[in-house]
Amino acid sequence: WPMHAPYIAAINRLKKERGAVILAHNYQTPEIFHGVADIVGDSLQLAREAAKVEAKIIVQCGVHFMAETSKLMCPDKTVLIPDMRAGCSLAESITGADVRLLREAHPGVPIVTYVNTSAEVKAESDICCTSSNAVQVVESLGVDTVLMIPDEYLAQNVARQTNVKILTWKGHCEVHERFTAEELLAYRRADPGIRIVAHPECPPEVVAVADYAGSTSGMIDYATAQAPGSRVLLVTECSMASNVETAAKGVQFVKPCNMCPHMKRITLPKILDTLLTMREEVTVDPALAARARAAVERMVNLNN
Ligand code: 13P
Ligand code: SF4
Repeated sequence: WPMHAPYIAAINRLKKERGAVILAHNYQTPEIFHGVADIVGDSLQLAREAAKVEAKIIVQCGVHFMAETSKLMCPDKTVLIPDMRAGCSLAESITGADVRLLREAHPGVPIVTYVNTSAEVKAESDICCTSSNAVQVVESLGVDTVLMIPDEYLAQNVARQTNVKILTWKGHCEVHERFTAEELLAYRRADPGIRIVAHPECPPEVVAVADYAGSTSGMIDYATAQAPGSRVLLVTECSMASNVETAAKGVQFVKPCNMCPHMKRITLPKILDTLLTMREEVTVDPALAARARAAVERMVNLNN
C-alpha cells in the first residue's frame, strides 16, 4: 500500500520508542492488520493475548469493548484507543440495569454474556463467552437453562448445538443482521461448489445455508484450509476477505461484504496520533473492573 507507507513507517518507529504493542481485530483494514499490528485475532484471542502482553502500553485497534476487555485483563497497563467513538450495536443494546432486571425475572439462571458488551454489563454477569467458545461456555455450567445475552441470533445459533435451554435478549449486530438467506441461496444457485462461511451473529436462517459458522479466526482457518481453486463466500465484515486473501493462496473470495462503521473509525492517521499524544486512554472504575474481570477470567480459564 504505497500511499500508506509513510504512516506505517512512522507508526512502527514510534510504537518501538514508546514501548507499545498494537492489538488489532480481524476486521481492521489490511494496512493496519498487515502493516502495523503486533497481534491480530478474534475477540477471544485478543483477550487471551492482552493478558500476556509485557509492554506497558496497548494500542487497541478495534472497538471500545475490546479495549475495555484488554484493560480488564491488564489493569496496570495503559490501554489506548485511536477513536473513543468506535462502538458496537450489540454493546449498546443492553445496560447493567437491564441485566439486574433479567436476574430478578429469572432467579438462579446463570447469565452468559457475550464479550461484545460494556464492562458494566460484564460486571453483572456470571461468565463471558465469545463466538468461538459459546457452546463450550454454556455446557460448562452444568445447568439445564442459561440466559445468553445480548445477541439474539448468536443465542439461537448456539441453541441448535446444545440441549441446554437458552433464553436471550433482543440485541443484534448491525453488520451481520443485514445478510439474508435469499442472497446466499442466489450465490449457491450460481455456483453450487462455493463454500459459504458465516459468522454466528448472522440470523439462524443465514447460518443454516452456510457450510461452516464460527468466529472470525475460525472463518479464516476454514478459508485458508481450502484447496487452491476453491471459491469461498465470506458472510461477514468487508476487511476479512482482504486480510485473509494473502494467506489463502489460490482461493477465490466472493465478498458480499457489509461494513462495520465502528471498526472503520480506526485509521492509520488516528493510530499515529494516538502514539504521539497518548490519547484516548480507556479506563474502568476499579470496583466495577474487579467484577467484570471475574466474568472474563472465568471464560479465559476454561481451557487452562
Ligand atoms: P469474533 O470474536 O468472531 O472476532 O467477533 C467479533 C465481532 O465483533 C464480530 O462482529
Ligand atoms: Fe459490533 Fe457487529 Fe461491528 Fe462486530 S461487526 S463490532 S458485533 S457492530
